[in-house]
Amino acid sequence: MSEMNVPLLDLKAQYNTLRDELEPIVRGVVEDQWFIMGPQVAEFEKELADYVGVKHAIGCASGSDALLLALMAHGVSHKPGQPVQRVICPAYTFFSTAGSVSRLGAEPVFADIDPVTYNMDIKHTRELAKKTENLAAIIPVHLFGQSIDMDAWIALGEELGVPIIEDAAQSLGTKDATGTPVGSRGSIGCFSFFPSKNLGAFGDGGALTTNDDELAEKLRILRVHGGKPKYYHSVIGVNSRLDALQAAILRVKLGHLDNWHAKRIENAHRYTNLFAEHGALDSATPLSVNTDAPAIRTPTGVEDPARHIYNQYVIRVPAAIRDDLREELKSKNIGNEVYYPVPLHLQECFADLGGAVGDLPHSELAAHETIALPVFPELTDQQARYVVETVVAYVNQHAPQLA
Ligand SMILES: Cc1ncc(COP(=O)(O)O)c(C=O)c1O
Repeated sequence: MSEMNVPLLDLKAQYNTLRDELEPIVRGVVEDQWFIMGPQVAEFEKELADYVGVKHAIGCASGSDALLLALMAHGVSHKPGQPVQRVICPAYTFFSTAGSVSRLGAEPVFADIDPVTYNMDIKHTRELAKKTENLAAIIPVHLFGQSIDMDAWIALGEELGVPIIEDAAQSLGTKDATGTPVGSRGSIGCFSFFPSKNLGAFGDGGALTTNDDELAEKLRILRVHGGKPKYYHSVIGVNSRLDALQAAILRVKLGHLDNWHAKRIENAHRYTNLFAEHGALDSATPLSVNTDAPAIRTPTGVEDPARHIYNQYVIRVPAAIRDDLREELKSKNIGNEVYYPVPLHLQECFADLGGAVGDLPHSELAAHETIALPVFPELTDQQARYVVETVVAYVNQHAPQLA
């Protein structure tokens, strides 16, 4: 048992099952020598639009660029002499959700999260929106592969008259409570194909989705420096295209995605059931509640027709032992990660926005208590049991009795 090795992600295991399919495709692109845009990108965009259930999918260079382009398409920018525009986004997310806002000279305004789902708290967002001047957009994130409550967020966007840009970087194939894929109901959906995502490229890649013809046209122009026709620029864009090589690889992988999702969901349920056998409760019960259960909280999961794709499987343990547990897991060859150790309102680069410890308690607590476990599709039952037993043994031995 102790010789087991459980990486956080096993991309080689995935590649081994795809090698025969991928090699001729990659060779084909190399033979064609058509590397930028072209038929592979166009076909992938059609297939992605079908998968998400939207009229338009537009490839770009990364999920971060997707966010940047989405904001640009909505006119977010800093114009000298004009008041600064603001965009509300969660404090507990990957950096680029807010970085994209700052890069355009606009100002991120950080909302707290719901401690059960880790997604942005809509009540707090509404409060912030009411007192935020020049609010240009809201970017909720479908964190870890779980949808936000789209009905409620769409209604909030309409109430406030601002676009809801979905950061769906971790959530291609996630379905909301109505069973609708994320990235199809907001003004624009932003996706990432970073290699560790459920649909990962062989490098960076991203895409935008929308049902709005005008926004789609803007995005297509913005990603090629704002030129249309080529070399004629009515707007200033960026160079952000999806490589043909990446598009060709993603087309192959997209065909396997639902199968991989199913395996991740199976692995997540297995973990949750195994933790529950040891008495662990789910994240709806705060860790601070005094029970005889081990101080471990598992994700609550979702019910049909919603679909959580478990881009990450994240548990909570007491902050006092979280980092030591990570070390223990490392010493037992169990990969793990903390998404994210520093909430964005406390990042050094955002210090001028005035965020302070205690401002966003749920984001801060999550940053100290959460830990992501390996949930990749090829994870075996034996590996999952080893992970659970290692976590439970450590927590039972070291977690102080919670009062
Ligand atoms: C929530 C979220 N937003 C945005 C991004 C940015 O995507 P990329 O790494 O492709 O730029 C990521 C990727 O890690 C993410 O997880």
